[in-house]
Amino acid sequence: MQEKISQIKDEYLAKISSVNTLKELDEIFLALFGKNGVVTQLPKEFSALEKEQLRVISPLFNQTKQQLEEAINRRRTEVREEYYQKLTQEEADFKTTVPLKSRAGSAHPLLQFEKEISDLFGKLGFQLFDAPHIDTDYNNFEVLNIPEEHPARDLWDTLYIDTSNVGKLANQLLLRTHTSNAQIRILENFKPPIRMMVLGRCFRYENLDARHEHTFDQFELVYVDKGLSMANLQYLSEYFLQSVLGKDTKVRLRPKYYPFVEPGVGIDGLCLFCKGEGCKVCGYVGWLELGGAGMIHPQVLKNGGIDPNEYTGIAWGPGLERILMLKLGVGDVRLFRSGDLKFLKEARYI
Ligand code: PHE
Repeated sequence: MQEKISQIKDEYLAKISSVNTLKELDEIFLALFGKNGVVTQLPKEFSALEKEQLRVISPLFNQTKQQLEEAINRRRTEVREEYYQKLTQEEADFKTTVPLKSRAGSAHPLLQFEKEISDLFGKLGFQLFDAPHIDTDYNNFEVLNIPEEHPARDLWDTLYIDTSNVGKLANQLLLRTHTSNAQIRILENFKPPIRMMVLGRCFRYENLDARHEHTFDQFELVYVDKGLSMANLQYLSEYFLQSVLGKDTKVRLRPKYYPFVEPGVGIDGLCLFCKGEGCKVCGYVGWLELGGAGMIHPQVLKNGGIDPNEYTGIAWGPGLERILMLKLGVGDVRLFRSGDLKFLKEARYI
């Protein structure tokens, strides 16, 4: 019996140290300690032994049993460690053999453009001002001479916010359709001379095409002083567009109606895609309308507590994407908010 026990011990210790997987170790464990396992079954043979022999065999058996169990546990730990070591080695090999490209991010072209504009007009003494994206019907329309039933509202079809569950405000909140919602705040809060600019997001309920997006950015200018005229507006329009698009840029002011300016104009830039020939981007007009502008309406100045007999004002609100399309040669306004990395990489800001 002594020999049998040491035979089992040698045989299984050898097996345990030769296997390399947890699964094989489980099999060995079952072969030894399972219901019909070698170790489990062995004591059955002890009944045939003499008392004297048993006194020697019993402790030997217990010791062997313990040794085998310990050997299995030890090997389990080793196998696990070998596995993780191999894994990290493979990972390390992967890292050194496959070059991982690091991609540096950058500010969105629109954001870079806004920075350029605020620097450009900062030099002329204009200060940045901010107004909320969600605003009242009053600030966005009414105070700008666009009462509720006014047909001009059709120009700014927007997205209303259902506020029926907040009582008093019912149906008066909307996503601002233009940065002109800042005008009343600026006029009310500052005394002339005023030089303010707003660069920010606007929203409209639009039919989308190459020139129209539901979400876009505008650049509002509010300039109030004594003796300002359309000549200043013409000068500023050229200063602006020639600075951002190049010295040769052609600019024209065309009469246009906006209820909050008088007179009102559209600022057009010659389409750089077709050089005035007419193409898809400019809608076959040859010129791209880059924004509206005009002399601030006397009523709006009054609404802001400024005497129109003493002061005149200039306001404008070009769309930034339109101008950036010309600057970067982008043929579709929708690309700016597409999140398309290929576009963002290629639309290099210069
Ligand atoms: N807010 C006008 C628009 O979005 C543009 C504008 C601004 C016109 C200021 C005149 C003066 O269309």
